Amino acid sequence: VSRLQRDSSGGLTLQGVPLEALVERAPRGTPFYVYDLDSMTDEVDAMRAAFGAEPHLVAYAVKANSAGPILRALASRGAGADVVSGAELELAVAAGVVPGQIVYSGVAKLDDELDRALSIGWDGILALQAESIEELPRIAARARAVGRRGRVSLRLNPDIEADTHSYIATGHDEAKFGIPIEDLGDAIRLAGSHPEIELVGLGSHIGSQLTTTERYAEAAETIVRRWLEVHADLSSRGGGLRLVDFGGGFGIDYGAGCDARPADFVVALRERSRALPPDVLRVVEPGRSVVASHGLLVTRVVMQKRTLARAEQRRWVMVDAGMNDLLRPALYGASHRIDLVRSSSAPRSAARVVGPVCESSDDFGSYDLPEQLDLLAIRDAGAYGFTMASEYNGRPLPCELFLRGGAVAEILVPRSAAQWVADRLRSR
Ligand SMILES: Cc1ncc(COP(=O)(O)O)c(C=O)c1O
Repeated sequence: VSRLQRDSSGGLTLQGVPLEALVERAPRGTPFYVYDLDSMTDEVDAMRAAFGAEPHLVAYAVKANSAGPILRALASRGAGADVVSGAELELAVAAGVVPGQIVYSGVAKLDDELDRALSIGWDGILALQAESIEELPRIAARARAVGRRGRVSLRLNPDIEADTHSYIATGHDEAKFGIPIEDLGDAIRLAGSHPEIELVGLGSHIGSQLTTTERYAEAAETIVRRWLEVHADLSSRGGGLRLVDFGGGFGIDYGAGCDARPADFVVALRERSRALPPDVLRVVEPGRSVVASHGLLVTRVVMQKRTLARAEQRRWVMVDAGMNDLLRPALYGASHRIDLVRSSSAPRSAARVVGPVCESSDDFGSYDLPEQLDLLAIRDAGAYGFTMASEYNGRPLPCELFLRGGAVAEILVPRSAAQWVADRLRSR
């Protein structure tokens, strides 16, 4: 349930807090991100409830939004983490995620990252997800070097075309991700030849922003079938697997609709995995679906520009947030709903909402907007927003405000423009 609403005076509120009031609280004014922590923890609760009594792990994909207040809130509800770098691993553990509930994905993990994942906590992380056969001897070598056995789950590429943007489809034949399913036998044999490797599971992640469960269920069925074969084979030799990782990718409604709710993906995978032994850990790696709908980017209109003499009238609304703050429209052609922070009944006309960055792709899209404008809220910006933000054009990263229980609970303030200038001049 979204806690984004309009109050009786026409002001947009999040958790009952007027966004206009938050502009005063934001240390540098606009643009800033604001997040609803309670709705994010509700998402994790709903996904966990959908698993019923089955052993499960909701390993939140940190890349979607790595803010400490979010990680701490999710960890407090029993979420684990899916990380893709040594820094994300350190961050997750420092925020309270139990190392034994962390999976580590990524196609080219560095030696020192492998060392940390193997040695963190008292027994390392839950599983390193090997994305290629070539990674196995590398993991074995690092495990030998740090004196630990490495738990490994093989991330398979099931060659299933996810129905999403090509940049975020990962489970097809040409993607760099995962071990081709035809190579599974070789991967199992190679893993078995390294005593430093303990093979614990199989997994897949076919892509992001899936709006129906169909392809996800198909991938789940493929992985479960392979899992059962491998498990039977290993069991006959005294071993066996312990987990299946179904990946993330659960879509959200950016305005064009999304038939499936996050919990529907869990229901779909449960339907396709009835043959699994009951004690096997079912892992999912949702990122976007936990945080995207519960974050806004609040921005102020700097000025407007119009073509005057041309026959074809054009109007641009220039805001103080740019592609450096929210890259998704420029990167994927994504479109986000934009709401007026204060409602208006004035007549509207079409305008392109653009940022101040010197790139034509710094363009959020076309919207019907009234002539008089001040504050705008770019919706569904909680995932792949701040984490993809940059300081391009010497623009500081935006501040982030975190709401809990109808009040600002925490504020993160990145380095200022003045600090950026100093850092660009300082050499060692
Ligand atoms: C391996 C892996 N797991 C999980 C995710 C999270 O995906 P989403 O945010 O769509 O749930 C990603 C996203 O790229 C990923 O690459």
